[in-house]
Amino acid sequence: MKLGIGCDHGGFELKEELKRRLCAEGYEVTDQGVYDQNEVDYPDIAKITADGIRNGEYEKAILVCGTGIGMSIAANKISGIRAALCCDCFSARMAREHNDANVIALGARTTGVELAWEILRSYLNAEFLGGKHTVRVNKIMQLEKGEV
Ligand code: RB5
Repeated sequence: MKLGIGCDHGGFELKEELKRRLCAEGYEVTDQGVYDQNEVDYPDIAKITADGIRNGEYEKAILVCGTGIGMSIAANKISGIRAALCCDCFSARMAREHNDANVIALGARTTGVELAWEILRSYLNAEFLGGKHTVRVNKIMQLEKGEV
């Protein structure tokens, strides 16, 4: 599976560790930065990482900042993106099964490495359930287009 990953300075160390583990498991990971701990603005990285989904480079992406909040807010402003900030494994699974989230946001200052990895695995191992959830996700996309 191809994945995108991006972070700001607050999420750099966690991003590096998650990327290392994903690659070890055979995922093809496109790292959209940042590549060091110099301060950046998280919306810039959210945009670059989301663009990889929009142009078909990968289907899903991971965004990491200090709390995951800024990244998730920014990503959700981008057309076609459904980003879920996840702090527990159940929410991560639901984000796929019910919400068809194509981005998971994680907080490096709120979530330890091992928990973040378990959350990410819960997200990646789950599949969208479709059915009534498709109707609801389509309504989200209509909201985005201003159709309702
Ligand atoms: C950066 O200091 C911090 O604001 C950012 O990583 C993130 O937590 C924003 O939501």
